[in-house]
Amino acid sequence: PPLPFIGNLLFFREVRYDFLFHKLYQYYIGRQMFVVVSTPEMIKQILVTNFSNFTNRTKPNLISKPMLDSILCLRDDRWKYVRSLLIPVFSETKLKEVRCRQCCFHNLEYIIVFFCMTPLINQACDVLLCNLKVYADSGKAFDIQRCYNCFTLDVVGSVAFGTEVDSQKNPDDPFVKNCRTFFEMSLFKPLLILILSFPFIMIPLLRIFPNKKQKELNGFFIQTIKNAIIFRDQQDAAERRRDFLQWMLDSRNSADSLAAGCFDVSSPSAASRQNESPLAGRAPSEKVQKMLTEDEIAGQAFLFLIAGFETTTSTLSFATYLLATNPECQEKVLQEVDEFSAKHMVPDYQNVQELPYLEMVIAETLRMYPPAFRFTREAAEDCIVLGQRIPAGAVIETAVGHLHHNPEFWPEPEKFMPERFTEEAKKERHPFAYLPFGAGPRGCIGMKMGLLETKITLLRILQKFQFKTCPETEIPLQLKSKATLGPKNGVYIMLESR
Ligand code: HEM
Repeated sequence: PPLPFIGNLLFFREVRYDFLFHKLYQYYIGRQMFVVVSTPEMIKQILVTNFSNFTNRTKPNLISKPMLDSILCLRDDRWKYVRSLLIPVFSETKLKEVRCRQCCFHNLEYIIVFFCMTPLINQACDVLLCNLKVYADSGKAFDIQRCYNCFTLDVVGSVAFGTEVDSQKNPDDPFVKNCRTFFEMSLFKPLLILILSFPFIMIPLLRIFPNKKQKELNGFFIQTIKNAIIFRDQQDAAERRRDFLQWMLDSRNSADSLAAGCFDVSSPSAASRQNESPLAGRAPSEKVQKMLTEDEIAGQAFLFLIAGFETTTSTLSFATYLLATNPECQEKVLQEVDEFSAKHMVPDYQNVQELPYLEMVIAETLRMYPPAFRFTREAAEDCIVLGQRIPAGAVIETAVGHLHHNPEFWPEPEKFMPERFTEEAKKERHPFAYLPFGAGPRGCIGMKMGLLETKITLLRILQKFQFKTCPETEIPLQLKSKATLGPKNGVYIMLESR
């Protein structure tokens, strides 16, 4: 039963990533009602079939710019517009960008398939491998999650903020320091309880007296992007780095030509592809502003930090833990990696498709430990879904942790079994029984990028090293589940050179 003012807040003092094994239940945080759903049919109804009533996530009450401007927090028509602009960036054509160059020897037009994102990821991998070699040579146990943290931050800096950093060697770099502060900062707990208990008083008060540190931090990220924009605008078009930031800057000029009616809101998630168009009949308002403002560009760059950083770091850390503790699976991956290395010098977007077992390992990692273990939708109006009344304003929470550990879909759910993801096995399962990236029009837009980064990184590491457990390895792994699910105390392993 909820307590007065704080609701069921105390229930969340412990790790609650798998939730209770109930198909449907509700709880309160302060006065806000949350309805937890965990059956594939009900989830499909919320995320896809009734999407027009469940377009938004929870109201971002205390969130400020640049996060407020990121697509994660945008609502209704503005979300649809920005999403339609971003979809091409995250689609396959962008991940393998095609560029024409003049061949200086024969004066012929050559088309060079230039893998736009992969060189940036590979570059950050080079630094990661140098750092890992030191640990492998030392023969000592170390926390590989810390290395992944630095690596993923380097990728975010490079791809989204147009700034090259080596966060392991330069922990004092202002970009690195501010990113770390951003993730370490959490609301003072008594203050959080006051906000939850008396939102109508506390939220306006906090808006009048904003957090100084938070303001400085937000200002830093916005200024970094603005400086990068000034620099890029001064550069010759040919000199500009091809990255996410540049794509958004280019879209400043082309956005106007996008008709408000031609939204492509198809979900990147495999599960949602099988479903009917959920936005039918919801044409966006003509008043939607057809340009990304500079603040919104900063917001979208920032989303790499909030949506892509922790999720990718945790996926890499969990996969490492699972491979180290399941040596027979690691052996199979190593064999596949060696066959790959005999054929290809450098991994790129296309050739990494030739690693089906590694792909299955990553899929099974995301089943056992889904970093985004719950996500929300807010009911715009009162409605009835599969016989259940849902009041307007209620927040629906998808219990992915529960879903992924339900023995009805996953026999022996605590076992690491990559073979659950062969093509045949996948066909036999309900498509909404596996949702590490969400589903429907609001599903993860960065799924392909997240998977590409994870795959290339594991491949590059396993070409040189193998993971070994050691006395310091925590088995079973302790988990933390604040915003995302991650290892609580890092992942201590040893590396053996190959
Ligand atoms: C393995 C890594 C990742 C995992 C497991 C993951 C998972 C998720 C999940 C579960 C959601 C919520 C989906 C929903 O509400 O239905 C989400 C949303 C989102 N993710 Fe990811 N994600 C990952 C990597 C990334 C990356 C690299 C980016 C790139 C920037 C990204 C960008 C986003 C964005 C923008 C949204 C919100 C989409 C919207 O509101 O329209 N994600 N992600």
